[in-house]
Amino acid sequence: MIQSIQEQHGIVGRTHELGDLLACIQAGRHVLLEGPVGVGKTAVAKAVAAALGRGFVRVDGDGRYTESRLVGQFDPPMVLEQGYKPEAFVAGPLLRAMLDGGVLLLNELNRMPEGVQNVLLPSLDEGLLLVPHLGAMHAAPGFVVIATQNPAEFVATGDLSEALQDRFELVKLDYQTELEERAIVASQTLCSPSAAVIEQAVRMARATRNDPRIRRGASVRAAIAIADIAMRLNGDVDRAARLALPTRIELVDERGDALSSILDSLKKK
Ligand SMILES: Nc1ncnc2c1ncn2[C@@H]1O[C@H](COP(=O)(O)OP(=O)(O)OP(=O)(O)O)[C@@H](O)[C@H]1O
Ligand SMILES: [Mg+2]
Repeated sequence: MIQSIQEQHGIVGRTHELGDLLACIQAGRHVLLEGPVGVGKTAVAKAVAAALGRGFVRVDGDGRYTESRLVGQFDPPMVLEQGYKPEAFVAGPLLRAMLDGGVLLLNELNRMPEGVQNVLLPSLDEGLLLVPHLGAMHAAPGFVVIATQNPAEFVATGDLSEALQDRFELVKLDYQTELEERAIVASQTLCSPSAAVIEQAVRMARATRNDPRIRRGASVRAAIAIADIAMRLNGDVDRAARLALPTRIELVDERGDALSSILDSLKKK
């Protein structure tokens, strides 16, 4: 199964993490994938969900997401006509995944408002969802939640409540190895992993992660962008990096021409 996820769903490496994730799911557990920006949380979750072949619903968390979007809601015109009948209820992603025994991918769960997170509690441990006017809805076998989140130190993220964390197993993803990053960039730019542009783009993105002047370095997404753009600029990786990196790194000192001089020195590494 791990190999088929890698081959058929385009996941490079992550053999150990995929093994952990599948073991949890086979044990009927819900999984929280945690790691910094761009390490492949969404890609891994999507690939696993697709490989399980169970039906798959995806939700992207944000601060304005509401309980009724997650659970579903009554269609007002139909309620006027027929009253609060089950047919008048339009199921949301949580209820759909529960009734289908499918996979619910909750991307960026910690960005959801606390009220929405709380709705999940009984569904996660008892497979139970109480819907006003409809009553108790029960999950079919196979229902599983794969959630993703950035670690708490990242902007615009909060901590999950203890109660919610207690219902998940944690699989951590760290940055890919250099060889894996080259393979990922190569697969998305249709180049050979040994192409000079790819090697340089990956080296540049990685160098941003251990420079003391940079608070938060760039992910493989930056390497993909640098390689992609450089190929259209006659292989000029430095010029591409000046376009791709400013939006993706956070400097310790944001003043002046700090970025420009940092890029000059990264080039030499
Ligand atoms: N192991 C991998 N195999 C193949 N592609 C990968 C892998 N890891 C990352 N990628 C690719 O790198 C990019 C970033 O990955 P992804 O969006 O899954 O990261 P993420 O951890 O969800 O990031 P964010 O925290 O920003 O949501 C995507 O284009 C994805 O396809
Ligand atoms: Mg993601």
